[in-house]
Amino acid sequence: MQITPEQGHLLALLVRLMTARRTLEIGTFTGYSALAVALALPADGRLVTLDIDDAWPSIGHEYWQRAGVAGKIEVKIASAVETLRQLENDGAAASFDLAFIDADKPGYDDYYESALRLVRPGGLIVLDNMLRRGRVADPTVTDDDTVALRKLNKKIAADERVDRILLPIATGMTFARRRSLN
Ligand SMILES: C[S@@+](CC[C@H](N)C(=O)[O-])C[C@H]1O[C@@H](n2cnc3c(N)ncnc32)[C@H](O)[C@@H]1O
Repeated sequence: MQITPEQGHLLALLVRLMTARRTLEIGTFTGYSALAVALALPADGRLVTLDIDDAWPSIGHEYWQRAGVAGKIEVKIASAVETLRQLENDGAAASFDLAFIDADKPGYDDYYESALRLVRPGGLIVLDNMLRRGRVADPTVTDDDTVALRKLNKKIAADERVDRILLPIATGMTFARRRSLN
């Protein structure tokens, strides 16, 4: 379930390149990608990471502590749609530098739309698994996850609100930079 080490290093590099301070993650699992991001954040940086199931992030917590970054990481347990709505209601719009989406695939479009509101203009949204090992390009594959990501790929490719690229790293990673006017 977790991203590959090279994806972790890429996320860390992006965090450093952007001098990101506030970051958001949708899909914590056992906390590997959270660890990669948190290690790259400055001492006063923050990662808000969301998961529906506390069993996974609670495994990661020990490793975040050992790495000395637990204080930078805030875990929110609930359905991501609910937590994202709460963040927006709490006035977090345009407050994040980077958002990483890596949770249930049918939810990706909602998470993308919410992330577009939550990252600042010039901020970056990263989406994992966007090629699904090539299955999105095979019209005979019609499972719900693949159909959802096929549709979202088409939408992002034509989305004037972002500058974007889909890279064939791991199972496909999309990078979408929020433009100033949206
Ligand atoms: C692919 S894993 C995340 C991997 C993690 N980013 C990493 O690289 O270590 C997906 C996670 O999304 C969580 N998830 C699935 N559906 C969710 C939902 N509706 N809301 C929040 N989290 C969800 C799962 O519990 C799981 O831990």
